[in-house]
Amino acid sequence: MSMHHPRPRLLTGDRPTGALHLGHLVGTLANRVRLQHEYDCFFIIADLHMLTTRNTPEAIAQADVHARGLVLDALSAGIEPETATFYLQSAVPEIHDLAGLLQGLVNVSRLERLPALKDMARDAHVEMSMALLNYPVLQSADILSVRGNAVPVGKDNEAFVEVARELARRFNGRYGDVFPVPETIPGDVPTLIGTDGRAKMSKSLGNAIALNDSATDVRRKVLGMYTDPNRIRADIPGQVEGNPVFIYLDTFGTDRATIEDVKARYRAGKVGDVEVKHYLIEVIERVLMPMRERRIRFSEPGYVDNLIVAGTERVREETALTVREMRKAMGLAGVWNRIRRTAERHRR
Ligand code: TRP
Repeated sequence: MSMHHPRPRLLTGDRPTGALHLGHLVGTLANRVRLQHEYDCFFIIADLHMLTTRNTPEAIAQADVHARGLVLDALSAGIEPETATFYLQSAVPEIHDLAGLLQGLVNVSRLERLPALKDMARDAHVEMSMALLNYPVLQSADILSVRGNAVPVGKDNEAFVEVARELARRFNGRYGDVFPVPETIPGDVPTLIGTDGRAKMSKSLGNAIALNDSATDVRRKVLGMYTDPNRIRADIPGQVEGNPVFIYLDTFGTDRATIEDVKARYRAGKVGDVEVKHYLIEVIERVLMPMRERRIRFSEPGYVDNLIVAGTERVREETALTVREMRKAMGLAGVWNRIRRTAERHRR
C-alpha cells in the first residue's frame, strides 16, 4: 500500500460547540471552499476534542445539534456534499489506537509549553487535564489517520498542525515511511476581531456574527458594534486603524474605491458611524445572503445526518487501514503474528 493517494488529501474540522461565524469564514472556511477541488476533502466533527474542555452531559447532549449545524455551515459556504467527507470523530474509535501509538513520540514538556493550549485552558476556565494536554496528539491522529497532505486552519490551530508534522517525521524516521508530512494552509487575514473590539471573534465571548444569523441579527449586531471610542459626534475626525467596522469592511468588502472613500470621509469627520455601519450591513449581507439560500437547499430532515453516517463509515475504514500499516511498520503486527503462529503450531 502506498502512502501516496491518487489525489492529495485535505483534513480539517471543528468542535461541535456552536455555529461557525465570520472569523471561521476568513480563517479556514474560505480556504476549504477554494481548495475543495484540488484535494480529496475530509471534514472532522471533533466531538472528542470538545470533551477536552467541555465534557458535561449537557454539552454532550447538544453535540449532534451542533454537528448538523457545522455541516450545514460548510455546505452553505460552498462545500460540495458530493465530494466532501464529513464524519463524527467519536464514532471512529480506531482514532484512539492511532493517537496512542503516537504518544511516545512527543514530550510532555513540548505540549505543556504550547501557548495555544494554555490559552484554551484559560478561555474555558479548566485545568490542564490529560485529555487537554493530549489535544495536539489527538489532532495529529486525525490528520494522519487519512494521511492528510493539507490542513487549512485558523491561527490558533497552527501550533497543533506543527505537532502533527513533527509526529509524522518522527514516526517515519523511526519506523519507516507511512505518513506524508502535512502542510499547514493558514488563513489569509489575521485573526478576526470581535464586534466588541476584543482581539478575537468568538461565540462564547458573545461578539460573533454567525454564518446562520438572520438579516435582523446582522443588523442589530452591526449597529451595536464598537467603533472609535473617542468619536462622540459625526463631525469629529475618526480613527480607521484598529476600528472593527473598518477591519470588517476591509475583510469582507469588494468595492475598494467605496471603502477608501468612506475611510477618507470618516477620517475627515464627514460621515457618521451609523452611515458607515449601514454600509457594512450591506457588505456582510452580500456575503451571507447566498449562504442562506444554499443552507435552505440542504436543510431537508435527515440529509445532513446521512452525509455524516456515510462519511464516518468511510473514515473508519481508512483509519483501520492506517493503524494496520502503523502496526506493520512498527513491528507490532510481527510480534502478534509470531505468537499466533506459535500458538497454532502447538494447538492444545
Ligand atoms: N482543533 C480544531 C478546533 O479548534 C478541531 C480539529 C480537530 C481539527 N481535529 C482537527 C482541525 C484536525 C484540523 C485538523 O476546533
